[in-house]
Amino acid sequence: MHRRGGAVFELAGRTAFITGGAQGIGLGLARALAKEGVRLALADIDTAALAAAGTELSALTGVATFTLDVTDRTAYARVADEAEERLGPVTLLCNNAGVGGSYPVTAMSYELWDLFLGVNVGGVVNGLQTFLPRMIARGEPAHIVNTASTAGLAPQGGQAGYMYEGTKAGVIGLSEGLSRQLEHEGHPIGVTVFCPGLVATNMVATGRAARRRISGELGLTAEQEEDRERLLTEQDFYLRQLGHSPDAVGEMLVEGLRSGKPYVITDRGVAEPLAARSKALFTALPPETEHDRRIARHVAAQLREAARSGSKTH
Ligand SMILES: NC(=O)c1ccc[n+]([C@@H]2O[C@H](COP(=O)([O-])OP(=O)(O)OC[C@H]3O[C@@H](n4cnc5c(N)ncnc54)[C@H](O)[C@@H]3O)[C@@H](O)[C@H]2O)c1
Repeated sequence: MHRRGGAVFELAGRTAFITGGAQGIGLGLARALAKEGVRLALADIDTAALAAAGTELSALTGVATFTLDVTDRTAYARVADEAEERLGPVTLLCNNAGVGGSYPVTAMSYELWDLFLGVNVGGVVNGLQTFLPRMIARGEPAHIVNTASTAGLAPQGGQAGYMYEGTKAGVIGLSEGLSRQLEHEGHPIGVTVFCPGLVATNMVATGRAARRRISGELGLTAEQEEDRERLLTEQDFYLRQLGHSPDAVGEMLVEGLRSGKPYVITDRGVAEPLAARSKALFTALPPETEHDRRIARHVAAQLREAARSGSKTH
């Protein structure tokens, strides 16, 4: 349970909708939420993993599983209807499905852009567009968790790949903006930005499988192909050797939800690149001028006005 703006947010008895819930972090989160008495709607494109997760979790809580590609908007709406019919209104949405993989810049293609933007950003957008209007219409406390990554907080030099880093930075930005605006407009809906670091999952294999599902050649030379394979094998090794277990990060997220944290970051590995990025950005700020002071006065006045009109309507 946690408090937001005086409202109590109980986890027990809620229905959560988790995308990418069949394995890895989504499954770790599902297990942690099941312990809290949350009913689970799990959506994933991997039907076999979904069936195994459903069997395991149904011993603990009410579960429904749905084969869904989060980029398919029509199917998403249909699945949302069915999930709510079977398990009750979804008041905890976990936009967690994502694809990873680092590709050389020379392999850039529309197909790859569409894959990364479509799943990592579009999947989150489709989740919001499907469930947020329902949550707002009900007016009851609800919550959204968007799985980004520490790779979205600061680029880490090639291992995660610029498409992955860029899409995860997008998830962080849209979550932060949405969170402020929901609060500003007085909706009792919170947003948590979830940034795992290294987690021991099948992410490298599922990234490979996602790449195989799209058309188009990568157009890599044999040497580039070899480099890429070496990088993927290394990534897989690091995730498995050094990563937290998916169950541990699921528990961290639940703890974050309980204490009302806006960000849940699972380890400090990003500290140095994040500090370097923040420093570079601050260094890029020009010295303060009268122009800046005028804008600051204007923004402060607007915020006071918004707070005054907010206190009249709520
Ligand atoms: N493993 C890590 O180290 C790590 C670190 C930071 C962030 N993340 C993020 O955590 C999330 C979960 O990743 P994971 O590590 O558990 O990987 P995973 O590959 O084990 O799980 C991801 C799940 O998403 C599903 N999925 C992929 N594309 C989908 C689509 N279009 N529609 C529906 N489901 C789809 C996969 O089938 C898989 O079950 C992702 O967003 C990932 O970017 C992972």
